[in-house]
Amino acid sequence: MHVIPRLQQHKQHKTHPDNPSGMWLKSLRLPPLLQHDGSINNEEWNAEMNLDRLKINGGVALNGHVTINGAKNSALVLMAAAILGSEEVVLENVPRLADVEIMVDVLRSLGARAHFIEHNVLLIDPRHIANSVAPYDLVTKMRASFFVLGPLVGKLGQAKVSLPGGCAIGSRPVDLHLKGLEAMGADIVLEHGDVIANAPHLRGADIYLNFPSVGATENIMMAASLADGTTTIRNAAQEPEIDDLAQFLISMGARIQGAGSDTIVIEGVKKLDKASTYRVMPDRIEAGTFMIGAAMTRGDIILEKCPTHSLMALIGKMRECGVFFDQIDAQTLRVCGPAKILARDARTMPHPGFPTDIQAQYAAMMAMAEGTSLLTETVFENRFMYVDELQRMGAQIRIEGNTAIIKGQPILSGAPVIATDLRAAAALVLAGLVADGETLVANLCYLDRGYESFEQKLANLGARICRIAVKAEKKEEVLLTM
Ligand code: UD1
Repeated sequence: MHVIPRLQQHKQHKTHPDNPSGMWLKSLRLPPLLQHDGSINNEEWNAEMNLDRLKINGGVALNGHVTINGAKNSALVLMAAAILGSEEVVLENVPRLADVEIMVDVLRSLGARAHFIEHNVLLIDPRHIANSVAPYDLVTKMRASFFVLGPLVGKLGQAKVSLPGGCAIGSRPVDLHLKGLEAMGADIVLEHGDVIANAPHLRGADIYLNFPSVGATENIMMAASLADGTTTIRNAAQEPEIDDLAQFLISMGARIQGAGSDTIVIEGVKKLDKASTYRVMPDRIEAGTFMIGAAMTRGDIILEKCPTHSLMALIGKMRECGVFFDQIDAQTLRVCGPAKILARDARTMPHPGFPTDIQAQYAAMMAMAEGTSLLTETVFENRFMYVDELQRMGAQIRIEGNTAIIKGQPILSGAPVIATDLRAAAALVLAGLVADGETLVANLCYLDRGYESFEQKLANLGARICRIAVKAEKKEEVLLTM
């Protein structure tokens, strides 16, 4: 069925019976896939259009145990790093997420073999990688595909990777990635929307990053692993995923020191020829999301495989809000919500500061806290898109510049809402857990990119939550009846 005239059809049909507020119209203004010129890629949009919704009936405290999955942000970069190897690698604890599937496709498009040998165990055989071109349609589906640039340049001496466009949380340039590779001798041109890099002799360099970019640090580390000589990255990102990447590369034969600090030294080697089996670190953002869920619902949950040490900024802040934590053993953390959550200001920062990826979830908690708080976003330029949706649930939030001023409310009210990005989706679900009545969260394509079995885990903790699936073949029908 033809897609383009739909917007007109929506105007003619005011509401869908399941959605009397007509909120789908808004969802249609937030397509997940934009073309470089800013227009909607209708074909992709159609394929990705996600009309499934989560239905949540609020008011139940979360109780019980939850096991944290492997970290999405680590798994994606480790998968790209596997390109550098000369032997098969096995990654354990890989979360089953839409983004991981896209990275599997990217690796296959380059000539690698990649498949799951168990539910969370991914085998990657990079021995036959010969293609240095990462296809446009995959890179535009997921920004993290850009991670293949550094490994391809390192291994093959050349790469052509589409320049990722902006996304829902900001313009997200990649200049620091490119400057780093240029400093190592890569010749980089931008042509027809692609980054074309040539570096037959990548050599070590001393690189200072103007901002401790996670992605730039990772891309440079990977390329440097196979460069001639030593590379030093100064003002490097210190996120735990950087150390995970370093440990994985070391297990393949790389020589890296200082990962996790602001100065990383990589001594290039000729080959990464150790067959490695490596376990992806646990997802600190997933863990943080469940911590906030426990606090908001006045619940009492035990997080298994919890990376507590990488969440100290959040835990410290939540303690100030009155939340109780008990470290049961190295990987097990108990979180209990207080009778009243106290409003406390927070400011996102690069690690070890308060993580930007938990900003939206924290805002949901502040929306029901006692008092007023200031929540300042310093990492991304446009990360308050979800605020309008939280306001539909009764949150009182005003944005001034890069700060959200949040006046806590005694009660939030369930409403149909639309996720605007991955962490916004989580924040809306959390708000739904405490809201009065029913909340319907749409645009779940975002949630499925970052949380494996999210609603199942919440349901296991007692939440009244279920997914209303709209089968693919029904989607057109639903759209036309709006
Ligand atoms: C990664 C994470 C993302 C997280 C972010 C910050 C993955 C797949 N994603 O994203 O979930 O929110 O770290 O913790 O790991 N910047 C530049 N030039 C560059 C690169 C970045 O100006 O070349 C700016 C960005 O626009 C942004 C800031 O630096 O304002 C942080 O970006 P960066 O640390 O690179 O984040 P990502 O690696 O994209």
